[in-house]
Amino acid sequence: MTEFKPNSIDKVEVDKGNVTWRTPSNIALVKYWGKEGVQIPKNPSISFTLHNCATITTLEFQKKGTFSDNFEFEFYFEEKIKESFKPKIESFFKRIEEFCPYLKAYKFIIKSENTFPHSSGIASSASGMGALALCVMQLEKEIYPKISEDYFYKKASFLARLGSGSASRSIKGKLVVWGESDAIPESSNLYGIPFPFEVHDNFKEYCDTILLVDKGQKQVSSTVGHNLMIDHPYAERRFQQANENLAKISEILQNGDVKSFIKLVEEEALALHAMMLTSTPSFILMKPNTLEIINRIWKYRNETDSAICFTLDAGANVHVLYPKSEEETIKSFIQNELAAFCEKEQYIHDFIGNGSERK
Ligand code: DP6
Repeated sequence: MTEFKPNSIDKVEVDKGNVTWRTPSNIALVKYWGKEGVQIPKNPSISFTLHNCATITTLEFQKKGTFSDNFEFEFYFEEKIKESFKPKIESFFKRIEEFCPYLKAYKFIIKSENTFPHSSGIASSASGMGALALCVMQLEKEIYPKISEDYFYKKASFLARLGSGSASRSIKGKLVVWGESDAIPESSNLYGIPFPFEVHDNFKEYCDTILLVDKGQKQVSSTVGHNLMIDHPYAERRFQQANENLAKISEILQNGDVKSFIKLVEEEALALHAMMLTSTPSFILMKPNTLEIINRIWKYRNETDSAICFTLDAGANVHVLYPKSEEETIKSFIQNELAAFCEKEQYIHDFIGNGSERK
């Protein structure tokens, strides 16, 4: 990991400035659930990068007048100062400090906003931590102008992972793999990499409509859920399954086999929730409407031979995945049949994007 510690060569004095990054959320197809050590995943995962659901973060930095041995920052969320978010950022800074020794030399103002409603139940940790990690890397790039583009993105993903595991998959690329897999050359537990093979046309343009089934605060956080995989009776088999599924989906994404894609993606979503149902203590994040929607998607698929399928993250919301070629018909199906099972009939149309952008 010393590869991510900057050396003192080619350092430039940077007094002040500001940088802005827009980082999208992502939806895992093969799920990360279970970790060890400092944010090391128990199995590899792969996700589609989203486009519309994103966090935009600006980092303003100014060299401190005199050195002080603490992190100095203010945090604004949607233009209001947010003290309650500060501990998360403070612990993120602490975690990355050994790789970013310049952090304590600056005072920061961090301003962040989401393109989706905060209370939508959509995980904002991936986009939020991703955007902050990229802003930190942009500052690093100003201080060390010679760092390569490859290093920039790898380290951004590495830092994002230390903030939130899934954030490592929101940095660069349409499909991102995080975690070591024999099927994916150069894959790493330390950072995400863009899926390295040519993707079949069938999967190049995919849509994800997020059905907001329950916008409330989750009863069990992801962090607690990951921890419940320690000593879980089915953990080892699950990690093995995820490894097998990653190898399978890599083939599927290259050969364009939509039927196998559907089977695998839905199996992964239900396996994730099965881990929750069978942990000690057990918990259920799905709601009755989650199940209703799943059943209606199955029925629609049986009747129409559509390529529609669903996946779930750690919550009650349903991600409806479908090829762009079916966009019009599936959008009407969602509006006419599924919206009724969403809180306030709300859903968000999204599609696969390219990853983070500097603003
Ligand atoms: C179910 O990345 O939110 O969405 O590393 O503790 O921040 P931390 O967890 P987080 O977990 C995401 C879990 C998931 C599956 C996935 O995105 O792969």
